[in-house]
Amino acid sequence: MIDGEEILHAIAAADSLSAVEQLRVAALGKSGSVTARLKSLGAMDAATRAVEGPRIHALREAVTSALTAKKAALEDDELMARLATERVDLSLPARETPRGSVHPVSQVLDELSEIFADLGFAVAEGPEIEDEWHNFTALNIPESHPARAMHDTFYIAGADEQRKVLRTHTSPVQIRTMMSGLPPFRIIAPGRVYRSDSDATHTPMFHQIEGLVIDRAIHMGHLKWTLETFLKAFFERDDVVLRLRPSYFPFTEPSAEVDVGWSIEKGRRVVGGCEGWMEVLGSGMVHPRVIANCGLDPDEWQGFAFGTGVDRLAMLKYGMDDLRAFFDGDLRWIRHYGFNFLDVPTLSCGIGA
Ligand code: PHE
Repeated sequence: MIDGEEILHAIAAADSLSAVEQLRVAALGKSGSVTARLKSLGAMDAATRAVEGPRIHALREAVTSALTAKKAALEDDELMARLATERVDLSLPARETPRGSVHPVSQVLDELSEIFADLGFAVAEGPEIEDEWHNFTALNIPESHPARAMHDTFYIAGADEQRKVLRTHTSPVQIRTMMSGLPPFRIIAPGRVYRSDSDATHTPMFHQIEGLVIDRAIHMGHLKWTLETFLKAFFERDDVVLRLRPSYFPFTEPSAEVDVGWSIEKGRRVVGGCEGWMEVLGSGMVHPRVIANCGLDPDEWQGFAFGTGVDRLAMLKYGMDDLRAFFDGDLRWIRHYGFNFLDVPTLSCGIGA
């Protein structure tokens, strides 16, 4: 069994996977030495074969398992060598991943939702592509009323019977809410609205938030308290002063426009005190005709509504002066005015901290 032992020695001494493969071919390949010996069994007489047969088979087994073991050992060595050179240096500082930030409009909407949730208001939604009935007619704005032109509405061509418009305010959500169930209702409706307007303080798309409370004995006092509470929480100041001016909206009676007082602090105009006034929202007691249009009895149900510009509130609170920059998509602007996405506003932690 000389050549058998030689092969086993050679396998033990092999130092690469290709050497192992060469030895496999030399021993077990078609014309390998072990294969030749297996073939020679056929030519032997029975007595010799009885002796040689088991020896040759044992040799083949021994060579096969030696090859397998050597191959595994060499592969292991290779892996260990690779691991040694590819070691990860955990002490290196991590590469910074670019992070986005929350747009001031989203932040302010979150703040407002938080404030009103605390006052027991639910959030309601309506479509941005509205029909004329919800946007105007049901709100007591008749066909001929100048408000329909005044609003500079984007009408959607085509559909004549129920003409579609891009909603000009969030007030149609009042109608959708009142028609959706039974009072009492206490909702806010934030969202995008559209008017054909464009300058430093007007963009064709902007954001409003509507408020609606309908119950049995709601009066102007509730309206005033709610607005005062919300504006003080939003601007995070106790010295927010409101001024209610008589006004006119077709869907409220009486109607009031609401101004907040401002003063100059460190050369900047801030909300609080009352050196001057600026208008922040429209409001009033929901017109009985609007309540009736929604199928409710205005002798039984009454309430108040208000609407305010979210973008304007954001500008006032965070000191931005050009509304157009809100929607330019300029990364430098959002990096400057944006909010950390983990900075979730809550009343208990202080809003907008
Ligand atoms: N919808 C009015 C506007 O867009 C605001 C408003 C809402 C006024 C609710 C009164 C009541 O100007």
